[in-house]
Amino acid sequence: MMKFGAVLCLLPGWLGSAAMAQTSVAGGVYTEAEAQRGQAAYASKCASCHGRDLNSKGDAPGLVGEPFTFGWKGQTLGERFARIKESMPPNDAGNLADQMVVDVMAYVLKVNGYPPGAAALPTEAAKLEQIVIPK
Ligand code: HEC
Repeated sequence: MMKFGAVLCLLPGWLGSAAMAQTSVAGGVYTEAEAQRGQAAYASKCASCHGRDLNSKGDAPGLVGEPFTFGWKGQTLGERFARIKESMPPNDAGNLADQMVVDVMAYVLKVNGYPPGAAALPTEAAKLEQIVIPK
C-alpha cells in the first residue's frame, strides 16, 4: 500500500517535467536592453512604493534580497508576470503593457544577480511559464 502511494505521488511530477522542459533564469533569459528599459519603467511606475533600490521601507514588499527569495524563488516567470500584470500598480492595475511587465521582470532579475543573455524574454504566458526562478 505504501509503495502504491509513493508511485501515485511521483507520477504527476514526472509527467510534468517530461511534458515541458523548463529553463532557469540562471542561464541568461533576458537581454541587457530589456533590463535597461525595465529600470526606467520601474523608476516611473514602481519605485514610489517598492523603493528606488528595490529595498522598500514602506507597506509594499521589497523586490531584492530576502523578499525576493520569499516571493519569487520557486516560481515561474509566468506566475510573476500574472501577479504583476493583474495587481500592479494597485491604483491602476491591469493597465501595464505586457512588454513593460517583462522589462521590469528583467530588471528585477538583474538586480538580484541573474545574468543577461542573448535572447529576449518572451511576452507569451505559455513560454514564461517554462522559465523558473530556482530555489
Ligand atoms: C502604490 C504603491 C505601489 C506601486 C506603485 C506598485 N506596487 Fe507592487 N505592491 C504594492 C503593495 C502594497 C504590495 C503588497 C500587497 C499586494 O500584494 O497587493 C505589492 C506587491 C507587489 C508584488 C508581490 C510581491 C511578492 O513577493 O509576491 C510584486 C511582484 C509587485 N508588487 C511588483 C510591482 C511592480 C513591478 C510595480 C511597477 C509596475 C509595482 N509593484 C507598483 C504597492 C505598489
